[in-house]
Amino acid sequence: MRIVLVGFGNLGKGLSRAFIQKAGFLRKTHGLIPRVVAAVDEFGAAVDEKGLNLAGLLKTAEKRGTVAAYKGGKRGKLALKVIEDVEADVVYDLTPTNIKTGEPGLTHIKRAMLAGKHVITSNKGPLVVAFKELDSLARRCGIEFRYSASVGGAVPVIGLARKLLAGNEIREIRGVLNGTTNYLLTRMSTEGAPFEIVLREAQELGIAEKDPTLDIEGIDTACKITILANSILGVNAKLKDVKITGITRVRSEAIRLAREAGQVIKLVGVARQGLLEVGPKLIPVGHPLAVSGTLNAVTFELDLAREISITGFGAGPKETSSSLLGDLIDIHRTLGG
Ligand SMILES: NC(=O)c1ccc[n+]([C@@H]2O[C@H](COP(=O)([O-])OP(=O)(O)OC[C@H]3O[C@@H](n4cnc5c(N)ncnc54)[C@H](OP(=O)(O)O)[C@@H]3O)[C@@H](O)[C@H]2O)c1
Repeated sequence: MRIVLVGFGNLGKGLSRAFIQKAGFLRKTHGLIPRVVAAVDEFGAAVDEKGLNLAGLLKTAEKRGTVAAYKGGKRGKLALKVIEDVEADVVYDLTPTNIKTGEPGLTHIKRAMLAGKHVITSNKGPLVVAFKELDSLARRCGIEFRYSASVGGAVPVIGLARKLLAGNEIREIRGVLNGTTNYLLTRMSTEGAPFEIVLREAQELGIAEKDPTLDIEGIDTACKITILANSILGVNAKLKDVKITGITRVRSEAIRLAREAGQVIKLVGVARQGLLEVGPKLIPVGHPLAVSGTLNAVTFELDLAREISITGFGAGPKETSSSLLGDLIDIHRTLGG
């Protein structure tokens, strides 16, 4: 399969490493030979229709800061040109999230679809801004569209719900979907430390962003709940439909009292027909949603299976490449490979 990588940051690099490490496995187990024919970042592009040398590309990008420094690479804003002109089967959009405009990913995805290329993305922005539009455009263009990594990182939330649980009516989805806030709440709980102190330390460790607003105000979780509601419950939800409360007002005293009562406080996103919300909730210690540190967890409430929960790493380039590869294999199988 000929692949274009748009975005060569943490995930673009992590996926390339997985392609290198798992080349034999992918060929033997899935009959899949991924050939990355182009990689693009903000500064430029590297293109080789015979397939880029991924080890060389990674070395160049790490040393020189851009794929444009790879032999024969070109500088300039080249994403749309590469998406349209380079012959490929699948375009990965792995660019930064913008939840207001969806750009640059939104335009990348639309252009790829219109050019007849299958699309895989990890980028929440385009999905939050224009889920229905992209879903129908994919159908109209007759291409496959996958976005497993956009919610839960490595945790296969969307695939589990849409495939293996497809015989159930999904009554409710509840999820701990933001690693940063879960890390903060876990440390507040285990150490009794105040919010401001654990936040500062998490920023120093690189676990929380310099501007943590999207995480601590619950907006990142709300984006993920919007994507889950649209893709699993089949509603037409927008971010503004989610009632959001963050964790900035959660006090150590409340966490201590919860603990004494055998509970923990978690930032939980909830989606069911007619209700989308995010806020701190009490969860009994030992419940599958009571995960620690940066882990993510999701519980589905179902008519047949009753309750199914899933947990795992919600971010990280190696972990998330599990979902990015899974989507590629799924497309390969759907196309009869
Ligand atoms: N990291 C994770 O664990 C994780 C997990 C799940 C989902 N996600 C989502 O996946 C996406 C990628 O994450 P990441 O951590 O890999 O981000 P990142 O490290 O910031 O990488 C983003 C890449 O996109 C490139 N880029 C930016 N604007 C571009 C444009 N207009 N055209 C072409 N390339 C452009 C950047 O180029 P420059 O380097 O040249 O600026 C960079 O290579 C984000 O939307 C993120 O929210 C990340």
